[in-house]
Amino acid sequence: MIQKDVLLTSFNSFGVAVKAPWFVAVDSEKSLISILKDSRFENAWVLGGGTNTLFVDPPKRGIIKMNISGIEIVEEDAQTALVKVGAGVDWHHLVLWALEHNLSGIENLALIPGQVGAAPIQNIGAYGVELKDVFHSCRFVNRDSLELESYDTDQCQFGYRDSVFKNALKNKVVISYVWLRLVKNGHSLKTGYGAIESLLDSWGCKNPSAHDVARAVIHIRQTKLPDPKELGNAGSFFKNPIISIDMYKKLLDVHPDMPSYPASEGFCKIPAAWLIEQAGFKGKRLGDVGMHDQHALVLVNYGSGTGKELVAFSQKVQKKVLDLFGIHLTPEVNIL
Ligand code: EPU
Repeated sequence: MIQKDVLLTSFNSFGVAVKAPWFVAVDSEKSLISILKDSRFENAWVLGGGTNTLFVDPPKRGIIKMNISGIEIVEEDAQTALVKVGAGVDWHHLVLWALEHNLSGIENLALIPGQVGAAPIQNIGAYGVELKDVFHSCRFVNRDSLELESYDTDQCQFGYRDSVFKNALKNKVVISYVWLRLVKNGHSLKTGYGAIESLLDSWGCKNPSAHDVARAVIHIRQTKLPDPKELGNAGSFFKNPIISIDMYKKLLDVHPDMPSYPASEGFCKIPAAWLIEQAGFKGKRLGDVGMHDQHALVLVNYGSGTGKELVAFSQKVQKKVLDLFGIHLTPEVNIL
């Protein structure tokens, strides 16, 4: 059912109050294809959970809300199960479903907000695991041909918070289903990420199960990341910048405490949260917008902040970090 002038406050996790001229929820590939033929939805913006979208101005185009549901095991062998998931399934619901079915591989990705269809676009990741580690393939509607196509892991060209869907296929396709290869038994759990290991130790958990790892991740996220249902936010607002080792060495002379993580050869990743905290923005608030006091990378709407105010604040952060460190922060969030 196509609706006119729909308020999007509850459809974006920043809780920005803008109206869409046209709005439709789709629950199948067939209805998705027929909506894409409708001139009101020609350049429609597609919303999953709305957890990575910041509306600055009211959208001038239609909004398609993805509601394709369903999780099923479509193939299995002794070790693994291939799981087909609708793009509209809530990501954390899928993580809980996998745990209930004793399937591991995505326990580190517990509590990531958003829907399954958006997961490949930015190759969601947390605590040492990325979607690409379990990804098998996805199916999408090509917006030019209105045909269905499938891509495997290689074709998706996954990188750090990156994929072909943010580059060559940006806004050209709508993902409808995702297939993941999950492990039935004997999966080697990834507990190496510092905070997980020490939390499991403190719980006396010597041989953790996938459930334990998920419990640890949920605990860590709940302690430092605000729940978008309670406080408008989109998780990390910026990507962690990748700089050359040469530049890092020069910066270390002036900022000897600057942390870094390995990236591709000759490069390293700097935690944006550290840069923002050093720039004095952790917990800093201007009116109803600001950077969270528990995690400097999370831009927060405390109530009636507008998209313009949120973006203006993020630009102040970018400018200060650039002035101080010569590093440009790139938003992870889609700014419309
Ligand atoms: N730090 C600070 N101040 C803070 C918070 C963190 O200085 O207020 C520094 C610390 O040095 C800390 C480091 O930043 O060790 C890294 O922090 P954290 O472990 O919280 O991870 P992150 O790099 O900020 C990334 C992802 C998160 C993901 C976590 C855990 C990006 C942009 N973000 O954050 O993903 O949950 O790692 O793996 O890569 C998201 O994308 O929305 C998201 C939440």
